[in-house]
Amino acid sequence: MLILGIETSCDDTAAALLEVKNGRFKLLKNLTASQVKLHGKYQGVVPEVAARAHLETIIPVMTEVLKSPPLRGGARGGARWKKPDAIAVTAGPGLITSLLIGVETAKALSFAWNVPLIKVNHIEGHILSPLLSNPHPTLSLEWRGNIRFPAIALIVSGGHTELILIKNHGQYKLLGRTRDDAAGECFDKAGRMLGLPFPGGPEISKRAAKGNPLAYELPRPMLHEPGFEFSFSGLKNAIRLLIESLTPSNSPLARGRTRKAPLLTKEGPGEVLNDLCASIEHAIVDVLVQKSLKAVAKYKPKSFILAGGVAANKNLRESLKNALPKSTRFLMPDKEFCMDNAAMIAVAGYFQAKQKKFIKYDKLKANANWELV
Ligand code: KG4
Ligand code: ZN
Repeated sequence: MLILGIETSCDDTAAALLEVKNGRFKLLKNLTASQVKLHGKYQGVVPEVAARAHLETIIPVMTEVLKSPPLRGGARGGARWKKPDAIAVTAGPGLITSLLIGVETAKALSFAWNVPLIKVNHIEGHILSPLLSNPHPTLSLEWRGNIRFPAIALIVSGGHTELILIKNHGQYKLLGRTRDDAAGECFDKAGRMLGLPFPGGPEISKRAAKGNPLAYELPRPMLHEPGFEFSFSGLKNAIRLLIESLTPSNSPLARGRTRKAPLLTKEGPGEVLNDLCASIEHAIVDVLVQKSLKAVAKYKPKSFILAGGVAANKNLRESLKNALPKSTRFLMPDKEFCMDNAAMIAVAGYFQAKQKKFIKYDKLKANANWELV
């Protein structure tokens, strides 16, 4: 089975071609046109800008993915496009103006080629992304083979921070999510306050590796509250106050006129910045790990899945790996599959295609608030 995956839920225009043979995945093509440079100057994703960029990029991206060798099947209409057996597209959650571009493209292709269409939830794509990276040599890559149930997934990205219990294939129960900012958003906003390039997550992580995580004390919101909810806006405020306390009142940073932090980057030694980054990362990772362990202690899952953009964070990956009980199978995607990508959407599409869960092109609608659970 050949599946075309399409993902445009936020600021990445992505398409992938996934071949599934005897339950094994082979990624023939995986392309992402990132808009990071475009949004960098605004220090955050601007929906209108993202949608325009998707519109410009979607056809070149699709063309590149579909024309790519090895060609199989017939050439169609003179174009050397490869016709997939199914088209899987992210229909939500995400930015509606971004989602629409991918969804309408998928509908048009489904209509033109008469190929079945599959609507994929972006979060389910993240949950299944480790399957692209963990080909266990003795197991088939089937859902049941690789993820043992019950499983718990921690999805952490720029838009999401969620702990999800997965009882069985497609059976999700939300254990808790953030009440306000997502963990990635906290990284990004802290990066912005520190004058680091967008997105702040990878930048903070790079500097954190050279800093002292115990240099500054920061709160661990919701850690001791019952349940599995998160909150990062309080931490964000504490980070702001800490930065202000380290910045002279006459500096442009203190007046909020510039995103540069002179004290921290010039007169103040880079160590201050590195220590701040390490302390911020430590606080975020600590909350994520402790809440995850609480959920693991309660539900005793056989697998634990870490996914989403923030799953690329080395400290988080290692801390969870070391902290989880050895009896719990720990699954996480390779770093390239942590960020939004279309390969994970194709994987999620495959499991639906197996159950013939298709949708007619004239019935599919993008849904910005589509809840997986
Ligand atoms: O999943 P994703 O590509 O997009 C969303 O669905 O949001 O995640 C992007 C998020 C950004 O907030 C980015 O700062 C964060 O993932 N991120 C990281 C790292 N790499 C990406 N956060 C912390 N450490 C990293 N190494
Ligand atoms: Zn995502």
